[in-house]
This record gives sequence, structure tokens and C-alpha cells, in this order.
Amino acid sequence: MTIDNWSARAREIDSFKVMDLLKRAKQLDAAGFDVVHMEAGEPDFRTAAPIAAAAHRAIDAGHTQYTPAGGIPELRERIAHYYQQRYGIAIGPERVLVTAGASGGLLLAFALLAEQGTTFMMTDPGYPCNRQFLRLVEARGQSVPVDASTNYQLTAELIRQHWQAQTAGVLLASPANPTGAVVPMAQMREISSTVRELGGALIVDELYHGLTYGFDAETVLSVDDEALVMNSFSKYFGMTGWRLGWLVAPADAVAEMEKMAQNLFISPTTVSQYAALAAFEPETIAILEARRAEFAERRDLLVSGLRELGFDVPLLPEGAFYVYADAGHLTDNSFDWCWSLLEEDKVAATPGADFGTHLANRFVRFSYTTGIDRIELALERLARRGRR
Ligand SMILES: Cc1ncc(COP(=O)(O)O)c(C=O)c1O
Repeated sequence: MTIDNWSARAREIDSFKVMDLLKRAKQLDAAGFDVVHMEAGEPDFRTAAPIAAAAHRAIDAGHTQYTPAGGIPELRERIAHYYQQRYGIAIGPERVLVTAGASGGLLLAFALLAEQGTTFMMTDPGYPCNRQFLRLVEARGQSVPVDASTNYQLTAELIRQHWQAQTAGVLLASPANPTGAVVPMAQMREISSTVRELGGALIVDELYHGLTYGFDAETVLSVDDEALVMNSFSKYFGMTGWRLGWLVAPADAVAEMEKMAQNLFISPTTVSQYAALAAFEPETIAILEARRAEFAERRDLLVSGLRELGFDVPLLPEGAFYVYADAGHLTDNSFDWCWSLLEEDKVAATPGADFGTHLANRFVRFSYTTGIDRIELALERLARRGRR
């Protein structure tokens, strides 16, 4: 086999650019340099002890074989109950599909909805993998440039303006990566009715729910019962490596995706599912809420520190654990700037180029997935860099 045998699909799928930078940051760590890591898209906290203990118990009890493709019934029930508890919304377990992270859910959603040659509208900047998932199913991402004037999110007006014959739907993330921007429910309601009027499907990635600061995010399901919703145990629940998430959709769509999940994955990870049952227990939630309070403190420190250094952060990011900062006063090539920040000052951050092309050369994403002392150190190093 040679490269000539590889499909156009495989060749066109882009790598995650931050991975190269991550690799270099790890090399510098191994060589004994004190790198401040602000490039990662995952909480620095270890998985909460009650979840880890539940995993140990699951292994001891022999829960190590396949499960139903849609997840163990107890977990589907528990997730459905969470919607009642957390959002006051009644959904049955047949509307929940347990997946391999939100990633597994996004792939299944696009496999369900994207016909060959169709497009899904999404923000630029946005989470990069979505465009690659769509490429995999022979559809395409349709990027809509957004900026602070619309809170880095799509609006009903933008959707109407950019809608094309081949557009099959809209994907939003709220809170979003890399901007932390949240779509208010009144705007979501307008978006939902516009997408429906245009005959498309609405997918909302809610995987940063739980990580909003000073308020609780509402789910799109409160204004649109037909939306396809992603969520995950990765971020708020601190379980990135357990590869577990879920989606909520109308029951017939769930059954259709479950059929695909059987073929693609057989089942979600068994031990992770049993562990996740402990994620909703009050003692776990208490741990996660304490972490959320720490994230809020980190965000405030980082945003004010960056602003003092001249970075433009026009809107306070309301959720996730990212600050998407305009470094236009320092560079018109944030990709090279991030590399030299790493090499010279040992601070790892992600260049805007990872999230699209719109103003990407000016922007840098800083993750506050590291302690207050480390954020202070990064700000000191940035200040020192500014004086050179
Ligand atoms: C917006 C968004 N969606 C989906 C994912 C994938 O998350 P996971 O598959 O771990 O649930 C990420 C990861 O960073 C993300 O930022």
C-alpha cells in the first residue's frame, strides 16, 4: 500500500494543530523546563474519588463485558433523571444515548443527518473536529465568521443570511470552545424557530454545561424538544480519559443512531458507564461544584491579567475554561507567536489557527486548566516578554 491508495477523505482530514505544540511542550517538560500548560482542553483535576471508587467496584463485580449499544439502562435512566433534577425537563431514558464522549455523539448525529454534499453551519472560530467529522461522512462544515459583536455565536439573522440550498442544519456549542460564549435562551428560541422554518436540523453541543460562572446554563431542550443535544462526562464531570458522553434526541432518532452505534462501536466503555453512575451522587456534585468555583476564580484572574497586558478580551467568557484573547497588539501571526512563547518563555497556549481562519492570526486561546499560582507565573512571563 502507498499513499496513492489512501482516500481523498483521509488525506483531507486535518490534524489537530495543537497536538504538535503539545508534543513540544511535553518534550520541554521532559528536558526539565518548567512549562506553564495553558494549551490543554481538559480539566487538570483528577477524576473525583467517588467515581474512581465506583469504577473499582465495577471491575471487582465483573462488569467488563459489552453492554447494550445505547448504554446500560441504569445510566440512561440516571441521565434522564438529571434533566429533571438539573433543568426541570421531563425526558424518558429512550431519548438518551450513551456515547464515547461528545465526539462519539457528534459523529453519530452527523451520520444520521448529513447527506452526501450537504453542509452544517457552524461558527468560525469553533471546535475544529466538527468539520472533520462532516468530511468523514462526505458532508462539509459551513463556517460562518463571528466576532464579539454577536458574542462569537450564531444568531437567527446570521443563519438566515448564510443559509444555502445544501445547508442541512446548524451546530452550536454553548458554552463554546474556544470563546466560552453562551447563547441566551431567547436567542436560542429564535435560532430554533429559524432553523425549523428553513427545514434544517439543530444540534447543540452542551458539553461545557456545569462550567458556567455565576449562573446555570439552560438546555436547548427547554425551547426545542426536537433538537439534538450533545453532552459529556469529560468536562464538568472531569472524566476526559474515560471516553463517555451522551446525547438526547427524539426517541426515533435515538433508535436510528443506536443501530449505527451497534455497528460502529458495539457499546460504550463498560467500566466507565458504571463509574459514571456515581457522577450524579451529591458527594460527587459537591466536589465538582468546588472545582467550578475554582475555575471561576482562575478565569477572573486570567482575564484581568491579560487585559492589563494589553490583550483584548472584549467579553467576559461565561463558561468552559478558555479565554480567547486578541493578541493583535503583539503579533499578526499568532501561530508563530505561540511557538516562540513556548520556546522562549515556556508558556504553552493554543493559536487561533486551530479554531478556524477568521481573525485567527490575531487570536490565542489560553486555558485556565492550571492552578492560580501557575496562571500568575504565566502572566509574569507574558509581562517579561512584553518588556523585551
Ligand atoms: C466543543 C467541544 N465538543 C466536543 C468535544 C469532545 O469532547 P469529548 O469527546 O471528550 O466529550 C470537545 C473537546 O474539547 C469540545 O471542546
